[in-house]
Amino acid sequence: MSSSAIQLSSAAASSSFLSPSTFTTREPSASLRRRSPGICLCVASPPSEKTAYKTKVARNENMAKLQAGYLFPEIARRRSAHLLKYPDAQVLSLGIGDTTEPIPDVITSAMAKRAYALSMVEGYSGYGAEQGDKNLRAAIASTYYRDLGIEETDIFVSDGAKCDISRLQVLFGSNAKIAVQDPSYPAYVDSSVIMGQTGLYQKDIQKYGNIEYMRCTPDNGFFPDLSSISQTDVIFFCSPNNPTGSVASRDQLTRLVQFAKDNGSIIVYDSAYAMYISDDSPQSIFEIPGAKEVAIETSSFSKYAGFTGVRLGWTVVPKELLFSDGFPVAKDFNRIVCTCFNGASNIAQAGGLACLSPEGLKAMGDVVKFYKENAEIIVDTFTSLGFDVYGGRNAPYVWVHFPGRSSWDVFAEILEKAHMVTTPGSGFGPGGEGFVRVSAFGHRENVLEAAKRLKQLYK
Ligand SMILES: Cc1ncc(COP(=O)(O)O)c(C=O)c1O
Repeated sequence: MSSSAIQLSSAAASSSFLSPSTFTTREPSASLRRRSPGICLCVASPPSEKTAYKTKVARNENMAKLQAGYLFPEIARRRSAHLLKYPDAQVLSLGIGDTTEPIPDVITSAMAKRAYALSMVEGYSGYGAEQGDKNLRAAIASTYYRDLGIEETDIFVSDGAKCDISRLQVLFGSNAKIAVQDPSYPAYVDSSVIMGQTGLYQKDIQKYGNIEYMRCTPDNGFFPDLSSISQTDVIFFCSPNNPTGSVASRDQLTRLVQFAKDNGSIIVYDSAYAMYISDDSPQSIFEIPGAKEVAIETSSFSKYAGFTGVRLGWTVVPKELLFSDGFPVAKDFNRIVCTCFNGASNIAQAGGLACLSPEGLKAMGDVVKFYKENAEIIVDTFTSLGFDVYGGRNAPYVWVHFPGRSSWDVFAEILEKAHMVTTPGSGFGPGGEGFVRVSAFGHRENVLEAAKRLKQLYK
């Protein structure tokens, strides 16, 4: 199974609270029941010695560097093992950051209309522009980058931010060195490993060689001490942050842009949660003067409109951004997009245009508000229990501190005793040790039930 298939199945597994699915069924299938509890075959495990035939193709040595499976498949494995042990448990998932609420119908009706039009000669269209529909690019530029000097032609519409992160890594190539926030969204590190940019994984420090890990903790306000960070080609920076839920201030981002300029680095700014910001923190890196010369921004409709399954995002590559030889980065990215991608689905793009209509923006705002209310319930619950809690105010993630404890142990404790799935902080990098991430994506009744169970567990 490909890694994307693995992720898809794990996402599906945890996308619906209490509802049956391949992994989460309350009544496990006969085949699940037959396996002994705890023996959960990892989909990424090497094949058994009994495999009859082997090709002569050597395994990509960079793939072999990756640590045993991506974080979420591991969580899904533990969840299914838990269900084997407690077949009647109503497992609540506050783990993977997948959305749960339906897509507003002002958006689905536009997609339905576009889909239907495809069945008529006048409405049919095939391949579109690889960079995306002109009207959608213009709408993204005017909605999210008004007055920031970003133009329609700087926008590349895509099938999601995660896919763009990998395409950006192809753009930078295997000689690039990256920096990441520690903890951070795992796709930056894993795509770097796959590209061959890193050394081996060093178990003792839980880091890959040749990646600069920028520690982000409560002590530094979740913003790295830039004076201790060495120069890299690329700096991945995510705000509001997954997993810590922290948001970078204007002053911090100004320092980041200056740092990139001083070092000649390119920032890849991930703003997939920008609409969750309710204070005056920047929603785009391009709000910072000079950022167009040092930054790319990637973003997504996934967490605003419930498009995790529909798949639609975008990446902004300003024409002012140049490589060391003066060649425009956007021209090379355009070449990558035209080679590795054939444009986002025309149906999804019709949905994207509807998202950016006045009604669509209002509907997305309501979706975001709903998840933020969930986050507030989770923050209040942990705070009332005496925990130090971060995030949740400008982000759909709550970052809870369990000082001195292993985050996988806390994950196991909450699963065992409250039948609740969270995400162990160490899965996002060594800086996440001692924390768990609690996601605010969920139906309200399940978030309230989770609050009740947590109060019982930690009273
Ligand atoms: C920080 C961050 N970036 C990107 C993504 C992926 O977004 P998309 O669904 O657009 O691929 C996620 C998804 O969880 C995320 O948390």
